[in-house]
Amino acid sequence: MSDSPEPTPAPRDTRPERGRTVHGEPANAGHRVLAPDDAEVEAYLEQALHAPPPSRAEEPGAAPDTIVILDFGSQFAQLIARRVRELNVYSELLPHDTPWDEIERRRPKAIILSGGPASVYDEGAPKADPALWSGRYPVLGICYGLQLMAHELGGEVAPSMRREYGPASVQITTDNGLFAGLEREQPVWMSHGDTIMRPPDGFQPTAQTDATAFAGLVDPARRLYGIQFHPEVAHTPRGRDILRNFVVDIAGASPTWTPASFVDTTVDGIRQRVGTGHVICALSGGVDSAVAATLVHRAIGEQLTCIYVDHGLMRKRESELLRTTFAEHLGMKLVMVDARDRFLQRLAGVEDPEDKRRIIGDEFIRVFEEEATRLGQIDFLVQGTLYPDVIESKTAETKAAAKIKTHHNVGGLPADLRFSLIEPLRYLFKDEVRRVGAELGLPEPMVLRQPFPGPGLAIRIIGEVTAERLETLREADWIVIDEIKSAGLYRSLWQSFAILTPVRSVGVMGDGRTYANVVAVRAVTSEDGMTADWARLPYEVLARISSRIVNEVSGVNRVVYDISSKPPATIEWE
Ligand code: XMP
Repeated sequence: MSDSPEPTPAPRDTRPERGRTVHGEPANAGHRVLAPDDAEVEAYLEQALHAPPPSRAEEPGAAPDTIVILDFGSQFAQLIARRVRELNVYSELLPHDTPWDEIERRRPKAIILSGGPASVYDEGAPKADPALWSGRYPVLGICYGLQLMAHELGGEVAPSMRREYGPASVQITTDNGLFAGLEREQPVWMSHGDTIMRPPDGFQPTAQTDATAFAGLVDPARRLYGIQFHPEVAHTPRGRDILRNFVVDIAGASPTWTPASFVDTTVDGIRQRVGTGHVICALSGGVDSAVAATLVHRAIGEQLTCIYVDHGLMRKRESELLRTTFAEHLGMKLVMVDARDRFLQRLAGVEDPEDKRRIIGDEFIRVFEEEATRLGQIDFLVQGTLYPDVIESKTAETKAAAKIKTHHNVGGLPADLRFSLIEPLRYLFKDEVRRVGAELGLPEPMVLRQPFPGPGLAIRIIGEVTAERLETLREADWIVIDEIKSAGLYRSLWQSFAILTPVRSVGVMGDGRTYANVVAVRAVTSEDGMTADWARLPYEVLARISSRIVNEVSGVNRVVYDISSKPPATIEWE
C-alpha cells in the first residue's frame, strides 16, 4: 500500500506499449496491475477460442452475508473490501452509481461508502442513490463517503482552513458501537480537504480532532455512521476493530466467509453446472490456474483435462513441479505439450520486447488450439480470473480479447470451438486464492509462489532469446531463488529473479582473462505490483548470490544488483 491516500489518478503511461497489462492499460499506471500469473494466458485463450461475450452463468449456491462497498474513487476502495473479507465476511466492491435494485439484489447486511479524491461541491462529484439514506441498511461513510452523507442530508461541508493529511490523533467523544472497546484517544490516518461544518439534523458527533469537531458522526435512528479518517489503512492501528464493530456487531453479518466454506459451496456449484460436460483448463504454473483447476477437479474429477504448454521459457524444474503436483499427487488428467522448439524458432532473431510478447501469445494460441481440438467435445473452459480483474471493468474480458486481437493476427481457428467459462476465483482476491489453495491441499511451493510473467524468461533476457541464453538465465535464476529461500526471505518479497543482460565485461578467473555476460539481480517488495521498492537484501545474501552465479554459471563473470524502485523503473526489465 502506498502512503499517499486519496491520490489523483496516476498519469497514463505514454511510453509505447511498455509493460501493458492484457487489458491494454499500462502495467505501471492507473488503479492497479493485473495479477500477472495467468492473465496473459487467459486473454490468449479468449481470443483463440472465439469466446464471444462469454457465458458467465452464476454457479448455484447459497450467497454468504454480504457487505456492499461503494467506490467513490479512493485508491483504498479495494483495501476496504479486503479488510472486510479478512473478518471472514464477504464483501463486494461496486461503482458508486450502481442502481439501487442491483445493490438490493445482493441483500447486503450493510453498505460502506469509500473515500475519494472529489469534493462534494465539484461539478460531477460522484453521488449515490438517495435510497441509501433511508435507514433500510446500516451505512458507514468513510472520508468522502461521510462528507457526501452530510452534504446530501442537509449538513454543511466546506473547504477547511486546515487540510488534514497523514497521521492524526482522534478523540472519541461518544461510544456509539462503532468505537466499542477502543481507547478514547486513537492514532488514525487522515486525508481530506473539505470538512463538515454542521452535521445534518438527527446526527450527533462521535469523534473530533484538533482540526475538526466532526471527525465522526452518527444518526442512530437511521443507522448512518461516518468517520473522517481511514480505518482500512495500516496507519490506523485499530481500524480493523472499527470495521469489525460495524460489520459484525452493528450490521450483524456472520463471519462465515472462510476458505473451507468457499470450497464447499464452489465445488457444489461447479458440479451442478457442469453435469456430465467436459472441461479444459490451461495450467500456466501460476497460483490462480492451479487453484482454479484443483477446485474444478475436486468437483468433477475425470471430466477435467488440464493442458500445459511448455514454451521453454519457464524457470528451472517448473514443468517437473507441475507434473508431480497435478498428475501424480492430485491425479488429474494432464496433457503436457512440449512446444519448446516451436517457440524458440519463432523467437529467433527477435529483440524487441513487445514483438517477443506478441509472438509468444500467438504461438501459445496455436499450440493450445491444436491440443483442444484433439480432445474432441469440450463444453467449459476454466479460467483463474480474479476479483480485481472483474471489478475493474464489467467488460474487462472482452476488452482483453480485443486487445489481443489487435496484436495477434490469428487465423485458421475453428469458429465452432465455443464453451462457457468457469471462473471459480472471480470473487477472490489473490491472498484469498492462496488460502483456498492451502485449504485444497496444494503444496506450499505452488501456493506461495511469487508472480511470474506470462512471457516468462523471454522478457528477462535482454535481446534475442536463444536456447543457450535461456539455459544461462535459468541457472542464474535458480541460484537467486535458492539463496533467497535459504535466507528465509522468499515470502517477504514480491518478486526476486535474475536478468541476463547482453552487456559483456572483462574479468579474471584463475590465470585467465574472461569476457563474459553481466547478470542483474532484481528483488522487490510490493503490495500489488503497481508500485515497488528494491529490497534491502542483506549484503551476505547478495554476496552468496553473486559468488555462486559467477562460479556456477558459465558465461557469466559479473553480477549487479538493481536498486531502482517502481516508478520510475518497472519490475521487469522488458
Ligand atoms: P512491471 O514490469 O510492469 O510488472 O513493473 C508488473 C508486474 O506484472 C508482471 N508482468 C507481466 N505479466 N505478462 C504478464 O503476465 C507480461 O507481459 C508482464 N509484464 C510484466 C511482472 O512480473 C510484475 O509482477
